[in-house]
Amino acid sequence: MEHVVVVGGSVAGMRMLSGLRRAGFEGAITVVDPEAASPYDRPPLSKQVLLGTWEPEKASLGDPAGEWNARVIGERAVSLDVDTHEVGLASGACLRYDKLVIATGAAPRTLPGSGYDGVHVLRTMTDCLAVRRSLGRGGPLVVVGGGFIGAEVASSAKALGVPVTLVEALPAPMSHVLGEQVGALLTELHERNGVRVRCGVGVRGVEGSGGVEGGGRVQAVTLADGTRVPADTVVVGIGVIPDTGWLDASGIRLDDGVVCDEYCAAVGPEDVYAIGDVARWFDSRAGRYVRVEHWTNATEQANTVAHNLTRPAERRPHIGRPYFWSDQHGVKIQLAGHVAADDPVTILRDEGPKERVAAIYHDGDQLRAGLTISWPRALAEVRRALEGGLPAGDVLRSLADLSEQPRVVHS
Ligand code: NAI
Repeated sequence: MEHVVVVGGSVAGMRMLSGLRRAGFEGAITVVDPEAASPYDRPPLSKQVLLGTWEPEKASLGDPAGEWNARVIGERAVSLDVDTHEVGLASGACLRYDKLVIATGAAPRTLPGSGYDGVHVLRTMTDCLAVRRSLGRGGPLVVVGGGFIGAEVASSAKALGVPVTLVEALPAPMSHVLGEQVGALLTELHERNGVRVRCGVGVRGVEGSGGVEGGGRVQAVTLADGTRVPADTVVVGIGVIPDTGWLDASGIRLDDGVVCDEYCAAVGPEDVYAIGDVARWFDSRAGRYVRVEHWTNATEQANTVAHNLTRPAERRPHIGRPYFWSDQHGVKIQLAGHVAADDPVTILRDEGPKERVAAIYHDGDQLRAGLTISWPRALAEVRRALEGGLPAGDVLRSLADLSEQPRVVHS
């Protein structure tokens, strides 16, 4: 019976374990990750756990040894030899695999000056609890980066009564993904909820008491235009880098992630797969290599690889069906479809009592994606239309029918 080694014990890795067992795999499974003994889900880290409405245990992803009969090695993988089929561990030991699944995710980018107390990133449970303690001092909080982490942390901190300034280098939050028009809606959402938003300006540095780079506590963030924004806590959410350093000498093809074919098999070596944030796979429907940093893709990719490992004669390609959600200021934001920031977008507001918004991205009449704010029913329409290949005009008409007071505010 084969031995499957999974490196990385976050949601992709854990779904791999459960997916293999569900698919009837009875061989040995080993998961390697310093955190794999008590794995946890990340979405609550910028929301419920940060707010303190969930205890950390509620974010648990289960017990890999007890639930999926997996061996857990609580250390980092440091190297890979694809010829001998061995993973090198931090302790110096080697682990032999028949099939290897790489699920090491990504690590946050940092800013110079991150050594001061009170300056944080938010990726792990330890980070989350440190930010929670830091916010307990009352703030003010400066969030650097208006992406997912920045927007959700700003929203949670505001709910805790902490004064928040959000600094985003681009003209609007999330505009690198969603474009400027939709980004402007998010600026409006933050400002309506009391977050000060500074867009279109980069960060020059972080100031603190005591020596530079450590020892002292953060006091302010200085912006490129010379403004000094006082801070007692800073959360830096300026994107992530795929965690592939341990593969540098392996000969595996790396290009902003592990390059994989449409089945999520690494291009080149035998018996190596990659899933989740670390995988750049060939999406045959999109016709290009893509890397997706969202929870739903990680779980679906794990299911695909579990299928491909257990039914090699019936392998199936992984087709990305991009979907994400984000909770900000008590509002649910959802997106389905492949969006490019420069796609034309039509924004429909329902100005009835429910105050909901749908932004439909399209290329001519071809529907590309849809983003909704406080409107899950509209998102379901978008998903149906994407699956059925319906034109954008049809979707807009059915959303207008669903609205109480529809108004097109941008087209
Ligand atoms: P991100 O890529 O979503 O956003 C980074 C933002 O920082 C961008 O808007 C960028 O323009 C800005 N930025 C970059 N450098 C800057 C600078 N020097 N000064 C000011 N702004 C700067 O990355 P983020 O927010 O760090 O999130 C990390 C990961 O966590 C992502 O993979 C994301 O998908 C995931 N995540 C997903 C959530 C969800 O799906 N709801 C929630 C939280 C995190």
